[in-house]
Amino acid sequence: MNPRINPSILAADFVNMQSELARIASADFAHVDVMDNHFVPNLTFGPQMVERIQETSPIPLDVHLMITDPERWAPGYAELGAASVTFHLEAADDPVALARRLRQIGARAGVAIKPGTAGEPLYDILDEFDQILVMTVEPGFGGQGFMPETMPKLRALREEATRRGADVWLQVDGGISFDTIGQAAEAGADTFVAGSAVYGADDVEAAVTGLRDRARTASLES
Ligand code: DX5
Ligand code: ZN
Repeated sequence: MNPRINPSILAADFVNMQSELARIASADFAHVDVMDNHFVPNLTFGPQMVERIQETSPIPLDVHLMITDPERWAPGYAELGAASVTFHLEAADDPVALARRLRQIGARAGVAIKPGTAGEPLYDILDEFDQILVMTVEPGFGGQGFMPETMPKLRALREEATRRGADVWLQVDGGISFDTIGQAAEAGADTFVAGSAVYGADDVEAAVTGLRDRARTASLES
């Protein structure tokens, strides 16, 4: 497994976004948290800001939509060029139809589940997605503690994906650090979002490399 590390720019300095994006050039994707103050009690940015981030970023965008009514908004993020667009299962009326639309526009289609949402309803539709995001904190804020109780759900999704031969990335997001990334890798994650662990480090590039190495070692041990 070659682990993907996606730094979350939620932990970046918003008024220096261009240089903050340049700092993560050695990472895999820039994780962009879109929050609408409805689906989650926090507000970040919308399509216009993400369009400029897309034009400025040295690496592709992994957009995480924590918003209600993703049917209305998600396609626009694919159209502006985001490589990956993930919406929440809890917010979608017809997740399969929306994923198909995102793929048709040319983005990878992702679906996210909150810590309290079961993974089983996704088993039969794994092929419809390029990425499943298992939230390892309650969505809304960076800097929270990793929830290890989400690991059995992640492990079960990995087993299902393997059993069905589904080519789907399993992403974790929330509280991922040098201390917690190993558990998530061992449980089957291959794509790791990290906000404070990357932008809070003295050496951002070393943090990305260190997280990737730690995930690779843990997945080999599993
Ligand atoms: C939380 C966001 C995360 C957040 C992660 O709702 O989806 O992407 O930025 O931040 P850390 O890594 O600090 O927990
Ligand atoms: Zn996120």
